Amino acid sequence: MRILSGIQSSGKQHIGNYYGALRQFVDLQNRGDEALYFIANLHALTTVRDPAVAATLTRETAMAFLALGLDPKRAILFRQSDIPEVTELYWILGTVVPLSNLDRSHSYKDKLARGISADFGLFAYPVLMAADILLYGSDLVPVGRDQVQHLEFARDWATKFNLTYVPGYDPADPTGAKTGKPGILKLPEALVQEATAVVPGTDGQKMSKSYNNTIDLFGDEGEVKKRIMGIKTDSTPVEAPKPGDTPLYQLLKVMVPESEFPAVEASWRQGGKGYGEYKKTLLAAYHATFGEARARYQALQKDPGSVDAVLRAGAERARAVAAPVIERVRQAVGIER
Ligand code: TYM
Repeated sequence: MRILSGIQSSGKQHIGNYYGALRQFVDLQNRGDEALYFIANLHALTTVRDPAVAATLTRETAMAFLALGLDPKRAILFRQSDIPEVTELYWILGTVVPLSNLDRSHSYKDKLARGISADFGLFAYPVLMAADILLYGSDLVPVGRDQVQHLEFARDWATKFNLTYVPGYDPADPTGAKTGKPGILKLPEALVQEATAVVPGTDGQKMSKSYNNTIDLFGDEGEVKKRIMGIKTDSTPVEAPKPGDTPLYQLLKVMVPESEFPAVEASWRQGGKGYGEYKKTLLAAYHATFGEARARYQALQKDPGSVDAVLRAGAERARAVAAPVIERVRQAVGIER
């Protein structure tokens, strides 16, 4: 099994990124599969226009991976922009992508709805993401639910590419077990943790770098407290049972350790405690969960050279994984080298 996933360096990493994706990455590394993780800093250029900020966020995203326990000896950690083959595949793949698919992309429609102007990069975003996945022959892609449509696109376009360029390719037999004609691009599967597939933000929408509703993993302590204390609640009196399905309840469910959650839930349903108390419980859970990682992050901040060295070594290894795939793609489409 080859596992691959990426995180955009378009802002500070938050607890949605952790419970939806990063936690899985760290858990999966113990399975002994080959794993590649990268910082999607080319994707981030669709929203970050300041070069100094882009560079800082790229390094901070790498530090987040390492601080949370990703072990660069077991997993390959690299920057998307260090692999020129990915933009090559992006172009080639784009020649078989139906425009109608991009028109119905959720992330694109969502950004348009929020008034972000539509440029080509945003429109083509899913094609670069498909190239990210297909370039390394990935089997499994651990992601939060918002990325599932992108995975479906990657599968569809890999099939389209294989049908176009592999004579005798049968989409019902993508590995070629019966036909002896396997696809050049392997079909990936999404791996989603249902319980944490959509972590809500402080306002109840999906937590997102672009909604100003995040609780950051490595943010300033005072700011984290302010965000937690500012989680949107209703006017249910202290003594009354609290309604489920609110962002505070869901965040407690995600963050409070499993052994302690039943007691929190019982009191929530019974009443007698105010929302402020629960917010304190959440803040305590945040510090208990991320205290060590935050200390490691601070240590890494003082040693940027070591982070850069990890990324350089990772890029070299990732290019070696990509090399045979891009070579087959070039041959298939008739690009001699
Ligand atoms: P990004 O940077 O928005 O998010 C990184 C990962 O975190 C998950 N996530 C969440 N999960 C649960 N609840 C939330 N509120 C939440 N917010 C974010 C995302 O689902 C994702 O798994 N397009 C990707 C980056 C990317 C990529 C790839 C991922 C580029 N190429 C190839 C996988 C494979 C993105 O913007 O993720």
